[in-house]
Amino acid sequence: MTNVAILGFGVVGGGVAKLLTDNKNEVTALGGDEINVKYILDLRDFPDSEFADRVIHDFSVIENDEEVDTVIEVMGGSHPAYEYTVRSLSRGKNVITSNKEVVANFGDEFLALAKENGVSYRFEAAVGGGIPALSPIISCVKQNKLSEIRGILNGTTNYILTKMFSYGDNFENALSDAQSKGYAERNPDADVLGTDACRKIAILTALATGKLPETDTIPTEGITGIRPEDVSAAEKIGCKIKLLGRCVISEDGEIAVSVAPTLIPSDKLLASVSGVFNAIEVVGDPIGEVMFYGPGAGAGSTASAVVGDLMQIMCSGINTAAPVFEKCRQTSDFSKVLKAQYYIAAKNACAKCAEAAFGKIAEIDAPLETAFVTPYLTDAELSESVKKLTESGASIISKIRIL
Ligand code: HSE
Repeated sequence: MTNVAILGFGVVGGGVAKLLTDNKNEVTALGGDEINVKYILDLRDFPDSEFADRVIHDFSVIENDEEVDTVIEVMGGSHPAYEYTVRSLSRGKNVITSNKEVVANFGDEFLALAKENGVSYRFEAAVGGGIPALSPIISCVKQNKLSEIRGILNGTTNYILTKMFSYGDNFENALSDAQSKGYAERNPDADVLGTDACRKIAILTALATGKLPETDTIPTEGITGIRPEDVSAAEKIGCKIKLLGRCVISEDGEIAVSVAPTLIPSDKLLASVSGVFNAIEVVGDPIGEVMFYGPGAGAGSTASAVVGDLMQIMCSGINTAAPVFEKCRQTSDFSKVLKAQYYIAAKNACAKCAEAAFGKIAEIDAPLETAFVTPYLTDAELSESVKKLTESGASIISKIRIL
């Protein structure tokens, strides 16, 4: 019998308990042992739940119970998740989490502590919900020279953008719909302002490069500034707008990391990722482009990734292929690693002055503003051109990079 404790009985914790119960035969066969949810830690009581008798409020009961060998931390937030993780690992218990905030902030420390104590720290569910991407990236992809890892990493914003594109829905309706389906964070600002995607691209960067960038160093822009006019301009040039997390790696190992709305040409696979689905794309030599795709949020899919980690631990004991992360404060700006085209919309501008500032542009028909696609520019060249255009009396309304 393998005893586990679940910390947090919210959407994901409930999903994990349900999966372990509903799919008991499958998990027992795969894990090679019966799994017992011995404790569920939460501040609340759940008198009507079938798990009511496992609910406790004192973490030290779990910490001191030597029969508990794996702690599933699905509470969210940095504290007390941080303290409970440290205490669990230090007591020789494996820890599995879906909590991207705590992995992005302290993943380096937890992995080192797990190694020191001969146990596993696993976080497949922290990025991409139910998509099994992190384990294959660690064990099957890193022999390549990686030049980029990028993804649509937030289900809520992708759901909102899809509704805005496909149904002309407004932002508020689409957001409350996503919340009612259990996709959004407790504070949806973390979704719509890009914070959640920022944490996830930090984790992917660490998997690809070993460097875990501090999230406050990652330029992050959410989707709250996307206007119906931008949606319409994107459609006119055959693109979708997606919130994209990117880590671009130069040949000499410099990395540039960002989260920003991005125009993606419709013929690229990423453009077809709709609704709550996420996708993670790895670009490397000689592998080329590999995409992992699947449901990025929701109780069942996230629980699947959490239980997948448990299966890995039960099947292979200590995770010998565990990555090593080193915190990093400094990443490059994109100028050093990337040239890109941009969609720009401006007021009080004309095609001629846009061309004087940017060089050859492709104008987009927009009734109330001047909209165009720039030539390929570095970040520094973009800033210079924007400055020239604004000096001519124009004001920039939208500026979105094209993939
Ligand atoms: N709020 C997150 C999302 C949940 O919408 O993707 C999964 O991490």
